[in-house]
Amino acid sequence: MNSPLRLADAHPGPSFAVTFDGREIRALPGQTVAAALWAAGVTSWRTTRDQGRPRGVFCGIGVCFDCLVTVNDRPNQRACLLPVEPGDTIRSQAGTGHDG
Ligand code: FES
Repeated sequence: MNSPLRLADAHPGPSFAVTFDGREIRALPGQTVAAALWAAGVTSWRTTRDQGRPRGVFCGIGVCFDCLVTVNDRPNQRACLLPVEPGDTIRSQAGTGHDG
């Protein structure tokens, strides 16, 4: 079966660890936070302010802001644009992402 990496003839460097809501997941150099979450089977990581509806990637190009996520205690990062870095602490966020 062809994987996305094989289809693109990509040869990324070794994977590294990040966490998502306290769970360790593996990420590859060059991936965005969204790509790393998708590869780990996570498709939703935010809930809307008013109705708590689940959100993840919608446009994938930084326009819609649906993919907002908290990374290293910084809320409202666009997961589809932000490169994932070794050791990142990624958290799902509710509403505005500002606790309290
Ligand atoms: S998915 Fe639209 S801004 Fe990230």
